[in-house]
Amino acid sequence: MTILTASDAHIRQAADSLRNGGLVAFPTETVYGLGANACDEHAVANIYAAKNRPQFNPLISHYASSEAVFADIDSNPTARMLASHFWPGPMTLVLDRPTDCQISTLASAGQNSVAVRVPAHRIALKLLSACGFPVVAPSANPSGKISPSCAEHVARAMADKIDIILDGGWCERGLESTVIDCRDEDHIMLLRPGPVTKSEIEAIIERPVILPAHDSNMPASPGQLASHYAPDARLIMDVTTPPDGAVYISFGVAKTDNPLNLSLSETGNLHEAAANLFNCLHQADATGCDLIAVSPIPQTGLGRAINDRLKRAAAPR
Ligand code: TXA
Ligand code: MG
Repeated sequence: MTILTASDAHIRQAADSLRNGGLVAFPTETVYGLGANACDEHAVANIYAAKNRPQFNPLISHYASSEAVFADIDSNPTARMLASHFWPGPMTLVLDRPTDCQISTLASAGQNSVAVRVPAHRIALKLLSACGFPVVAPSANPSGKISPSCAEHVARAMADKIDIILDGGWCERGLESTVIDCRDEDHIMLLRPGPVTKSEIEAIIERPVILPAHDSNMPASPGQLASHYAPDARLIMDVTTPPDGAVYISFGVAKTDNPLNLSLSETGNLHEAAANLFNCLHQADATGCDLIAVSPIPQTGLGRAINDRLKRAAAPR
């Protein structure tokens, strides 16, 4: 594995590696993705193996533009409207899988749908343009573990599994894309909360977005299993007074003299907290502690997506 700065020459090298079936980690505005050529069944199979990801959990195909997406995948006016507002950006659309689809069937994990996204990141877009084919990219972490928000996180967890890491510094958003099932225009469903919030979507489509009925054994989005984003330490939420020995992850000004204190955002800013979340979890774990205690996060706007990740990080394994 080599870590490369994202020069134009290195981006071309990374695109060639993907074209030849390699696995390349690259930055997006949400988290680092572990990329493979979406049209190469063998490379897609290698992604599942590298992440130790269950075969029933489908992958997102990344494209350089909305035009490229809709040239491949049929859609409806609602999907096009959402795409025109939020792409490039941290939103993934689940659409019907065309019969003549070039995306590997493994990437759909046996479902009759495909998930697609155009990321808002200079390096990711350059890479996707250089490829000219869609690139599947799950978050570049072992399945169930904490997502990566910098190249170092990827290298630590996945070094022996991948060919190249393109280093693009920190991910600006820090939380994975919002996943929206757009197949039925009368039932637009939020499968995974993320940086594009439910109310932002509703403001565009002018009708309510449906939340899937909660059943952690049979989630509407197969990746939304109860335990996910798990640090090695146990994690507890909504803590105002951390127990002795715990690493405390606070939001706003921490009213504690706990010596092991990390802050998501001292000013109580949800955007900053989202961007820092996975790094704080990585840092807390690196101390070798047994317990991570996190202060309450308001359940509004981006707070929903943060609490979603924390709830899964806290879930029994
Ligand atoms: O921000 C992101 O989306 C990042 C970056 C790298 O783009 N990628 C990412 O991929 O988070 P991953 O594989 O970690 O999460 C993809 C989520 C999973 O919850 C998966 O179940 C869901 O999208 N998904 C993918 N294809 C789907 C489909 N056809 N139907 C329903 N859910 C799908
Ligand atoms: Mg993931």
